[in-house]
Amino acid sequence: MKRINLLTLAGYRERGEHFACLTAYDASFARCMADAGVEVILVGDSLGMVLQGHSSTIPVTVQDMAYHVRAVKRGTRETELRPMIMADMPFMSFATLEDTLSNAGVLMRAGAQVVKIEGGRELAERVARLHENGVPCCVHLGLTPQSVNCFGGFRVQGRGAEQAAQMLEDVRILTEAGAAIVLLECVPEPLATRIQQEVSVPTIGIGAGPNLDGQVLVMHDILGLGVGRSPRFVKNFLAGEESITGAFRAFGDAVRKGTYPAAEHWFAE
Ligand code: KIV
Repeated sequence: MKRINLLTLAGYRERGEHFACLTAYDASFARCMADAGVEVILVGDSLGMVLQGHSSTIPVTVQDMAYHVRAVKRGTRETELRPMIMADMPFMSFATLEDTLSNAGVLMRAGAQVVKIEGGRELAERVARLHENGVPCCVHLGLTPQSVNCFGGFRVQGRGAEQAAQMLEDVRILTEAGAAIVLLECVPEPLATRIQQEVSVPTIGIGAGPNLDGQVLVMHDILGLGVGRSPRFVKNFLAGEESITGAFRAFGDAVRKGTYPAAEHWFAE
């Protein structure tokens, strides 16, 4: 079977089918996800927190990311379903246009099919240059964990008419610049739904309601391994399952059937 790619995601979107995305950082868990039918693997910089034990994603480097992308790629090279691999550009790795292009090159050579960057309209030129150079880009808006020190904590973003209008405009500018995927984290459900309807590219949500094309969660959270108080959108999918692959399959099934997320997992405003 061919590896899932952007065209596959566009097909899901066109048919109104939801797809599942989980974070993975190594070959074994990535293989279990492929066996469970998870369509997209995000090698997230959340690895700084769940693997390395930091309190934020800020210490993660491009070399860390490339190491884990290579492992995930190796783990899914021979599986029947080969999930699409998306990799985070870590903190400050896209500070300048030059850094953006060279660091995205490192991640693409390591095996990523898409790179993900956090931010709004200020990224337009970088997104356009990546696109021109054959690097598909997922833009991550809403709660962007690399900016936690600017937000003063992990908070819902896009609340109120002014912030909502700004985020809609950011998304419009970034998709016009060539963004291939829009990922929304902790955005009120009505705004996330409006963005899904207004863009023509696949959308992925985390704590952003049921109407995005895909849903993503951090693997450790769905296995009950999260540290501290769980965010509202987290659900333990291992409960009631006999294996980790079973938990991954249960997550994917719930996303495709529309039973996850439920109202308790999103923010109404
Ligand atoms: O790094 C990560 O795991 C992420 C997800 C929370 C979307 O960016």
